[in-house]
Amino acid sequence: MSSSEDLYLRYDRFIVPKETHSLESLTFAQKFEFKDDDVVAVTYPKSGTVWMQEILPLVLNGGDLTTLNTVVNWDRVPWLEETRLAKVVDQMKSPRALVSHFTYELMPPSFHTSKAKVIYVMRNPTDVLVSSYYFHQMAAFLEDPGTFDEFIEKFLEGRVLFGKWTDHVKSWKRAELGDRIMFITYEEMVQDLPASIKLISDFLGCNLSEEVIQKVGEHCSFKTMKSNIMSNFSLVPKKYMDNDKSPFLRKGIAGDWKNHFNSEQLSRFTSVIHKELEGENFCLPWSLD
Ligand code: A3P
Repeated sequence: MSSSEDLYLRYDRFIVPKETHSLESLTFAQKFEFKDDDVVAVTYPKSGTVWMQEILPLVLNGGDLTTLNTVVNWDRVPWLEETRLAKVVDQMKSPRALVSHFTYELMPPSFHTSKAKVIYVMRNPTDVLVSSYYFHQMAAFLEDPGTFDEFIEKFLEGRVLFGKWTDHVKSWKRAELGDRIMFITYEEMVQDLPASIKLISDFLGCNLSEEVIQKVGEHCSFKTMKSNIMSNFSLVPKKYMDNDKSPFLRKGIAGDWKNHFNSEQLSRFTSVIHKELEGENFCLPWSLD
C-alpha cells in the first residue's frame, strides 16, 4: 500500500494528489491570468465539481452540446490547480469556465484584480464525507480511507485533500466579493436542477430560455451524465480509477449519510462542525442531524 508521502504533495497547509498536481501546475495556477469574463466553480472535493463541469459549458454557450459530447470533462472545464490546465489553456474559448478546490486565500493575484465570477457549491459535509470515503476506495492515487470511523477522524482533523471542510467554507463565505460570487448547494441542485440552472444562468447574465434550461437540465441529470463517457470517468484506466470498486458517479443523492453514520458518529461529527462554525455570520442551509 502506498504511503501518503508517495501519493501526496504538500501545498501551503494542504495535501494534493501527485497524480493530478505538480509544483509546476501549482505555480502555473498562481501565475494564471484571469479574464473578466471567466467563471470558476469552487468546491470542497466531492461537493459537485464534475456536475459543474457539465452545467457551465452548456449555460455559457446557450445549450450547445458539442463540447459535452466530444471533450472529456477534465479538459472541458479544467481545474485551476491541476496539470491539465497548462495543456489545454490555449484552446479555451472565452467565456472560459474553470473549476477549483482552492480556498479563497490560495486564489492567484489576477483573480483579485479581475472581475471573474465564482460559483461556490456547498454540500452537506456528512454526504461529502460519505462520497469521499468511497472515492478513496476507487481512486488508486488516494490513500486508503481505513475504516469509516478512522475516515471520520481524518476528515474532521483535515488530514484529507484541501484540509478541513469548515475552513474551506469559511474562507469563501468570508470573501468580500459582492456580486462576483454566488452560493448554491448540491442539495438545491438535486431538488430542482432546472431552477438551479436558471439561477446560474441569471448570475452569469446568460438569460437562457425556459426551453434551453430544460434541455440543459436533461443533459446534466445524473442518469445522462452516468452514460456519457466524456463525463463518467470510464475513459480513465482502471489502475487509476476503478469504477468497479465504486463508480465515480456513485449515487448522486442527498442524504446518503443516513445509511452510513451511527448516532454516536453523527453526534461527534456534528458537534465538531458546529463548534468550528461558532461565531460565523452565516448559517448552514441544512440541519446536520
Ligand atoms: P456521490 O458519491 O454521493 O454519488 P465531485 O465532482 O466534487 O467529486 O463530487 C462527486 C459527487 O457528485 C458524487 O456524489 C457524484 O455522484 C455527484 N454528482 C456528479 N454529477 C451529479 C449529478 N448530475 N447529479 C447528482 N449528483 C452528481
